[in-house]
Amino acid sequence: MAGGSGTRLWPLSRAGFPKQFLSLSGDDSLFQQAVRRLAGLSSDDIAARPLLVVGNGEHRFLALEQLRELKQAPASVLLEPVGRNTAPALTLAALAALEGGEDPVLVVTPADQTVADEAGFTATLREAVRVAADGAIVILGITPDRPETGYGYIRAVAAEPGEVAKVRQFVEKPDRATAERYLAEGGYTWNSGIFVLKASVWLAALEAFRPDIASAVRTAWAAREQDGVFVRPGKEAFAAVPSESVDYAVLEKCPGSVFDIRVLPLAAGWNDLGAWDAVWQVGAKDEAGNVTQGDVLLQDARDTLVHATSRLVSVVGLSDVVVVETPDAVLVTDRARSQDVKHIVTQLSACG
Ligand code: GDD
Ligand code: MG
Repeated sequence: MAGGSGTRLWPLSRAGFPKQFLSLSGDDSLFQQAVRRLAGLSSDDIAARPLLVVGNGEHRFLALEQLRELKQAPASVLLEPVGRNTAPALTLAALAALEGGEDPVLVVTPADQTVADEAGFTATLREAVRVAADGAIVILGITPDRPETGYGYIRAVAAEPGEVAKVRQFVEKPDRATAERYLAEGGYTWNSGIFVLKASVWLAALEAFRPDIASAVRTAWAAREQDGVFVRPGKEAFAAVPSESVDYAVLEKCPGSVFDIRVLPLAAGWNDLGAWDAVWQVGAKDEAGNVTQGDVLLQDARDTLVHATSRLVSVVGLSDVVVVETPDAVLVTDRARSQDVKHIVTQLSACG
């Protein structure tokens, strides 16, 4: 799923070049890292599965070029004329996957994360694929270490050793007080955004909880046009699809329903590069905790992230700040306020 806009990483992330296509940690872009991570799956008994990319039509050549660099040919690149969030995106992928007459297990992954231990990731994913083949929805869960409000929180039913725990409750993006309570109570995991399920299970769950989205996407799919690897759902029909994430549309509603939803812990150095603070967290730091990229000079700076694109950037006597310089925009923010950068982008869009 590579169609997000990444507004909290403005001014580097832009409408025409959103964060998943940026190299924010290492040489590969986040999108390339997501694709590369899945390669470990295809070399064993689980048959190699074709890669389906779902993204915005505007970024089609960006996606294709980055896949070419990896020598990874996609089965299809499904192009949304407008973003309708992840529930419609996954529905397109499920419909495409069912075209071959089989009902494959889908490994669903965002394109905006880093994972340090790829071998550990692959091992966990294999287990998830095994359980999902029996009809379960398997979410990879992360042990929380802070009251993050940008994630989904999962409470599991106690499981027997060797069993993958059932989900008792899924709460998407709780408010700060609730997130703090969950952390204090313990027993919650974060939704990594990576989950595994059969294509038919996704469609059945969507039909059950959001039949409006299911039927609107089916209409757009029926009006699709194919152009090599690119598949374009009907433009007007897709624009009419309600916008909703998989989390709100389906995952929150599964616990206690007929759908068998489970959570499998992922301990592999997972990180969501949602905002500048997270880029600082995963970055290589100097002895004073600073992460710098490009032409940067620091004096008495501590725990800062300073990114220079086209000019020399200098920071003196500051700590815990983020400075991001690009040719036409500069961001300076307290690292702790990184999440609020999205409001600047909202203001910019409002200016037209
Ligand atoms: N194709 C497509 N179309 N992809 C999309 C769209 C869309 O309209 N909107 C978002 N995506 C992609 C993003 O590029 C990203 O890779 C992924 O889907 C997840 O979307 P985000 O917008 O980044 O979601 P989030 O970070 O707020 O929350 C999700 O991820 C968290 C973990 O990182 C949720 O699943 C949370 O529950 C979860 O904790
Ligand atoms: Mg995200």
